[in-house]
Amino acid sequence: MMSSIKTRVLILFLLFSISAKASPPLEITREKVRLQFSVDDAGRPVYAVLFNGKEVVKPSSLGFLIDSDSLFYKNFKLAGEDRKTVDETWKPVWGEYSTIRNNYEQLTVHLKHSSGKLLDIVFKVFADGVGFRYEFPRQNGLTYFIIKDECTQFQLAGDHKAFWIPGDFDTNEYAYTTSLLSEVNNTPVVAAATDIAVRTVTDARAVQTPLMMKTADGLYINIHEAALLNYPAMQLHVDNKSFRLSSTLVPDAFNNKAYLHAPTHTPWRTIIISDKATDILASKIILNLNEPPVDTNVAWIKPMKFVGVWWEMQTGKSTWNYSDYADSTDAKGQLIPNQKHGANTANVKRYIDFAAKNGIGGVLVEGWNKGWESWFGNWKENVFDFATPYPDFNVKEITEYALLKGVNMIMHNETSGSATSYERQLDTAFRFMKQFGYHAVKTGYVGRIVPRGEHHDGQWMVNHYERVLQHGMQYQVMVDAHEPPRPTGLHRTYPNFMACEAARGNEYHAFSNGNPPDHETILPFTRLMGGPMDYTPGIFKLKGYAPGVPNRSVHSTLAKQLALYVTMYSPVTMAADLPENYEAKPDAFQFIKEVPVDWDDTKILEAEPGDYITIARKEKGSDRWFVGAITDENARATTLPLNFLQKGKKYKAIIYEDATGATWKTNPEAYSIRSVTVDSNTRLKLALAPGGGTAISIIQSE
Ligand code: NOJ
Ligand code: CA
Repeated sequence: MMSSIKTRVLILFLLFSISAKASPPLEITREKVRLQFSVDDAGRPVYAVLFNGKEVVKPSSLGFLIDSDSLFYKNFKLAGEDRKTVDETWKPVWGEYSTIRNNYEQLTVHLKHSSGKLLDIVFKVFADGVGFRYEFPRQNGLTYFIIKDECTQFQLAGDHKAFWIPGDFDTNEYAYTTSLLSEVNNTPVVAAATDIAVRTVTDARAVQTPLMMKTADGLYINIHEAALLNYPAMQLHVDNKSFRLSSTLVPDAFNNKAYLHAPTHTPWRTIIISDKATDILASKIILNLNEPPVDTNVAWIKPMKFVGVWWEMQTGKSTWNYSDYADSTDAKGQLIPNQKHGANTANVKRYIDFAAKNGIGGVLVEGWNKGWESWFGNWKENVFDFATPYPDFNVKEITEYALLKGVNMIMHNETSGSATSYERQLDTAFRFMKQFGYHAVKTGYVGRIVPRGEHHDGQWMVNHYERVLQHGMQYQVMVDAHEPPRPTGLHRTYPNFMACEAARGNEYHAFSNGNPPDHETILPFTRLMGGPMDYTPGIFKLKGYAPGVPNRSVHSTLAKQLALYVTMYSPVTMAADLPENYEAKPDAFQFIKEVPVDWDDTKILEAEPGDYITIARKEKGSDRWFVGAITDENARATTLPLNFLQKGKKYKAIIYEDATGATWKTNPEAYSIRSVTVDSNTRLKLALAPGGGTAISIIQSE
């Protein structure tokens, strides 16, 4: 700990004043975005970013401390440069758009250090921002090396409003704070277990990325990273006075950051900029900076909605564990059932029936395998067996039943943080999935990581999560990872990486004080920038669902729960509530049945982080449009021009909205449904309740 603080102070001291005056900067420009690069008098590589002529990132330093060179951020000379322009389009396997344009100007600078070592920096400038990464070319003086620190800085131009969560090495499951950069201050907590996750914050002014900011004059800036592989996650240390952000990498047990072998490169650092908030949500920079799919054999990858034996455990109606305690055994040493076990064959069949009846593609079952009696707690190994069901879960019978009903079973592998135990069983676990026809798995990493001393967001675990994705590609299994680092667009490269958690999901309403009503208006600007989230929307019973905790409520109206299926894109999306709660409101459930999980096109109609989001999407391969509009704790009236519809065609719009008097706090379940005829000239008036939303399906009527 001490040494890391000392290192940081040293870096800050060494990098304090940066002068970019040495040589005229190299520049690349695409529309309003301009990037400048130079090497200053002290041989420091320096970059700056401008939008419309205004400084967004003032001259900021680049470089590293590496094991063999503590000055790998100065004493460089520019040895050469390369430029190119790229304009191409590509088709994602699934997503929000069927075609994506990748159009940028590229500048590569070749730097030579006084020690003789080589470093390249590649900049790509897009119409809506910049991506850059460091590349370590093949060279004699630098082969196997250790990154002690990365010295990338983002010198911002003012005290911007920021939407942030603490830079925690182990979890992203926080509510957001909205504050000025000068006010960023989170209380460090080192490895304290709270809620269900471990929290490790060692720097009171480090924040997680994606960091969303808004300047006083209305510019939106988002800083994150793309293609995080074989490297730790980057967090940002905020200097409260100078508004300089400095990269801080998640360390390992020795306070090293990354072990690399040249030729190699870092992930991309991304800066997305616009004067419109909607452009931030529409940006494709992060996906474009990721590599194409590792495999073209992807026909087995199928987006789907799913239900699950899950919310009933989260709310305490049933249990994951089969017995109350690991030592509740009878004379023969068999576990004694607690009579509340959720994953029993009859109950699972009930969910399969419900899915089949309502056209829901998948059924997730948690708590089916041995180990749950003693899973909770930190740093345990060999808790779970990923191929041995509890006695009341007849895997063969369930597989056959699901097959008969045309429903896909979704595997659940909770590791309780023991990645080593999971790795030992990885082949067995995936063979088991293959044997029983599972093409999707939800993984989980609740608790402190084994290998001990590693963190969820460090290099070792980043490599572990990738190994699981690789196993998925090999065994044709789609992955939904819980408790991973926040995503960085890797779903382009691994199209089986359908979703992950890495944020505070809807589930917090089941077991804690929940999420504030503005949470879902911030997530798309932060966590979702890197990829889909398994948020588990669709709760219909918004009060009185948690036995013994009568005051607990979901901080949303029912109509907002529907709108989330559009505003929070994910190719695997849960209908999270219990079947009986959907059966009680079949008219509202109709929207969940119809809403697609794969799209041809997306229009971000209105957005303001922390306040509201309205999105329209066109279903893949059809003419149906779906709209989701959500608001924070404030009611909202808006008028939507439907000019995205095909001209001259009439459509039927079914509008699921907050009923008069609905509010997230006292009257969340009041909704109403109306149907109107619309066309591309229609201006639709919507009224959203406090904490509310509107969901619309628009179907061609002629
Ligand atoms: C935390 C996950 O977020 C949740 O969805 C899951 O049910 C539990 N861990 C148990 O694995
Ligand atoms: Ca979680």
